[in-house]
Amino acid sequence: MSGGKGIDAEFLRALKQKNDIVEVVRSYVALDRKGGNHWACCPFHHERTPSFSVSENDQFYHCFGCGVSGDVLRFVQEIESTDFIGAVRILAARAKMEVPEGNFDSERSLQQKKKRDALAKIMLESARFYLSNLYSGDERAEAHLQYIARRGLSPTTVKKFGLGASLDFYGLPDFLAGKGFMRQDLLDSGVLQESKSGRLIDAQGGRLIFPIINAFDEVVAFGGRILEKKDFAKYKNTKETILFNKSKILYNINLLKKLKRQQSIPNVIFVEGYMDTISLYQAGFENVVASMGTALTKEQARLVKRYSDNVLISYDGDFAGQKNTIRGLEILKDEGLTVRVVPLPEGADPDDVVKQGKDVYQKCLDDAMPLIDFKIHYAEQKYDLSDTTEKRRFLSEALAIVAEAESESVREELLKKLRDKTGITYNALERDLRNVKKGGDEPPQITSVPAQRIVETDAETDKSVKAKRFILAAKLFAAPYAKGFNLREVDFSDETQIVVADYVCERENAGERIRPSELFEVLDENCPELNKILDFNYEDKLSGEVAERFFSDSVRALKGERIEAEIANCNKAYAATTDEETRKGLAKQLSELIKERNRLKRN
Ligand code: UTP
Ligand code: MN
Repeated sequence: MSGGKGIDAEFLRALKQKNDIVEVVRSYVALDRKGGNHWACCPFHHERTPSFSVSENDQFYHCFGCGVSGDVLRFVQEIESTDFIGAVRILAARAKMEVPEGNFDSERSLQQKKKRDALAKIMLESARFYLSNLYSGDERAEAHLQYIARRGLSPTTVKKFGLGASLDFYGLPDFLAGKGFMRQDLLDSGVLQESKSGRLIDAQGGRLIFPIINAFDEVVAFGGRILEKKDFAKYKNTKETILFNKSKILYNINLLKKLKRQQSIPNVIFVEGYMDTISLYQAGFENVVASMGTALTKEQARLVKRYSDNVLISYDGDFAGQKNTIRGLEILKDEGLTVRVVPLPEGADPDDVVKQGKDVYQKCLDDAMPLIDFKIHYAEQKYDLSDTTEKRRFLSEALAIVAEAESESVREELLKKLRDKTGITYNALERDLRNVKKGGDEPPQITSVPAQRIVETDAETDKSVKAKRFILAAKLFAAPYAKGFNLREVDFSDETQIVVADYVCERENAGERIRPSELFEVLDENCPELNKILDFNYEDKLSGEVAERFFSDSVRALKGERIEAEIANCNKAYAATTDEETRKGLAKQLSELIKERNRLKRN
């Protein structure tokens, strides 16, 4: 046990005596008496049959499923996510005992606790005030009530979520003024702010109020919705305070915790908004929380893991386009949660869908799929697969997604799905996929390839065509030795080579990554010239010292070729004219070219 930390041993003994472990655990989970022990589904891991036991005699709990165990203080620390001192406080409050503060609290943490308590009280009073406004009969609350009715929320739901109304900017400060709070605390709580004239005003002036409540049933912040379209943000949340850290809380976590006490929760639905949460809850999907429109964090992942191991992401349809959101989902996975994504109709949020009927939303839930499948599903919506060009675009996007797959079996499964969607053969898809992967971020493997292999293959083509192919391949697959080389220094004459060179230059100029598979958007995948270029990569001829030497040899050979051609042209032009001025110019050009040829030979 992490020890007394200076707490009076006598006090601790009394504290444990007054907090029977069976009673304390029972206030969090339903217990069944069997044999000498009490049993429950473990609150610390997800299970269907009870393996969590509490012994009255030993004042000890143990889970045979996940192995956790401890005394009543340990239990409270775990279930309330708090430290030893926090657990002592909770149990002391429960037993109506006075904690001997001075014994273990430094002056500073005592101050902090006081501050925290003051802010919590302000939040609670404010929530009560907003709540009372709503049904006060004040005519200014009409707009709020009508809005609530228009959004289809029942009075029971409104009560459950503690919705309220801010009627103006001055009601709340006036109300709080009579309660003896300190001005600085009122400002620090975020419910009030200073107007330009220095007067205290309600930060939510006129809005419909959604209290944000933590797992300990404390109101920590408010979300406020504007009722009519104006030039202000649709929702305004309380600023971050010592109570409200947006990255550590989920909207509706308080009711989720209560639900967990009644039943085990097979999965938790993640939505973005307040209204999505409330609508789903009202329709019977009580296992819902909202990220409140921001990317998910590790803390939120851990928070939800207390309640379930499975997460269903039910965000607005376009979220797959947002990198931050996707990163948030990866974080959930990193914390050991199983994540699936619920596909929603284009442009609809969960609130819209569930309004069409509970079963309509249930159908969406039934279609939940792994994130990687969802990304492909999302990409597919953008293209018309009956059109060949669009199909190619889709494939290039989809294969880039498949390349992210974490296992060979997932990759295979996805390729089969792509085959069924597009009618392209599995083998062709696999080959394209290899392309995508080789074009990826990893540096090419360094393997040593004998020189002859490069030179000897393809005896039918002359050296120059082959050199051009090799240079193109080296650029396409980002060979490090080709990095500084500008393809514009080479004259390509073959049409396919020109397309490839243009593609590479365009990407380089835009500072974007080169993805060889994108070439299939503009070139036929059976194009023989293209395949000869790509073969350098497939046959592993692009890496190693020899490849590097072959590259510089090729560049030099092509440069030499170009110089020879220009010299020949100059000679021809010289012979074709008698004009002295022109001849002078050509002679100058010739001598430059010859110098260049000599330089090249010397290297
Ligand atoms: P949405 O824009 O999807 O709104 O924002 P919504 O929840 O569907 O709202 P309704 O249906 O129009 O009422 C999702 C969530 O992002 C946060 C809120 O938590 C909101 O519920 N948000 C959004 C803000 O904090 N500020 C904003 O201005 C907008
Ligand atoms: Mn909405």
